[in-house]
Amino acid sequence: MKTINLPPDKSISHRAAVLGSVFDGKVTIKNFSTCEDCLSTLACLKKLGVKFSLKNSTLTIFGKGLYGLNKPSEPLDCGNSGTTMRFLAGILAPQKFDCELVGDFSLSERPMKRVVEPLQKMGAKIELSTNGTAPIKIFGSELKPISYKMDVESAQVKSAILLASLYSGKSKISHKTNFRNHTELLLEDFFVNSKTWDIFVPNDFSAAAFWIVFGLANTSNISIKLENVGLNPTRTAFLEIVLKMGAKIKIKNQKYFGKELVCDLQIFPSKTQNVKIPKNLISNLIDEIPILSVLGIFSKGKFTLKNASELRFKEVDRIQALIEIFETLELDFKEFEDGFYFFPKQVLLQKTFPKSEDHRIVMAQAIFSLLTKNQIKTTNFAATKISFPNFLVEFEKILKIL
Ligand code: S3P
Repeated sequence: MKTINLPPDKSISHRAAVLGSVFDGKVTIKNFSTCEDCLSTLACLKKLGVKFSLKNSTLTIFGKGLYGLNKPSEPLDCGNSGTTMRFLAGILAPQKFDCELVGDFSLSERPMKRVVEPLQKMGAKIELSTNGTAPIKIFGSELKPISYKMDVESAQVKSAILLASLYSGKSKISHKTNFRNHTELLLEDFFVNSKTWDIFVPNDFSAAAFWIVFGLANTSNISIKLENVGLNPTRTAFLEIVLKMGAKIKIKNQKYFGKELVCDLQIFPSKTQNVKIPKNLISNLIDEIPILSVLGIFSKGKFTLKNASELRFKEVDRIQALIEIFETLELDFKEFEDGFYFFPKQVLLQKTFPKSEDHRIVMAQAIFSLLTKNQIKTTNFAATKISFPNFLVEFEKILKIL
């Protein structure tokens, strides 16, 4: 049994840092993710005058209260992180100062109307570039509550409205499917704690998914152990699907870190069969689709993905990036606007995958490489630092024992 060291949950770390900054008191966040995306959030918070210290993986934030942030002297650079940009829009729209949010090349192409529109309905004064993308110019103004029906099922957008609602009073948000609710869970504690708040972040389920697939599909008889993995049901549809596919996984030591369920996982090599992915689970497993597709290639039967056009708006167009992988592998496949299908086949090729700038695509490629004993090579491991800073270390640890 090989233990893989997972990074702390990226989604929860972002939320804890942003909420901690406007909390009225000291917040200690243990097991905070030092992935590049979360460091982008910290860099922006620093420019807003938030004082914090990060030692090992404990982040201590001296929260400034709802109206204690300072006007930044320059645009806030959210780097590659959509979560940073959308969350900050929610917290900055109701401030008493103006500011601007910018991002890297990829983030500057991603849709921001989806978050700006509900905030404008709340009374926010925000300007986007003509094609609905960053830079986002925010002119601080007073907000009012709204009743909002979401047409894009996005946890980032929902969180931005929730954060803005700290200032406007209660808003009502409705959406059709169930997607990550970490903001709601942290908000319950935000209101209960006074002066000090301790948060313990679980390890990242989305990072775990890559090693779950390695554990299931490797032919070197390697079982994988993953510890303190977040098991919040709004994140684990991927687990539901792989269990249906025939995965042998033991779920052990279930406990709670605050309001978040965690567990240890043991994953055993298994024979798997592709199954239908229900439409209502797509937003729950959106980040796991690249690695689920890799498992699909090592499973029996046709793999079909539909209703997943949201993948086209991630750090890269992930449908296109996956299609490029299928082309490299010479699979029999077909692309749709909202997904694809392919037929698995045994792959015995000496090739290199196309270079990707997207962390989840690179990690999906890398797990594929391990599953083919590195016959098919991956490049650009640097991109994995966006969500999984020690991915390469774990990759090399496994490569050695194949
Ligand atoms: C996230 C929500 C998801 C996900 C992203 C992180 C979050 O995006 O893809 O990696 O932390 O709220 P959307 O909510 O925009 O789908």
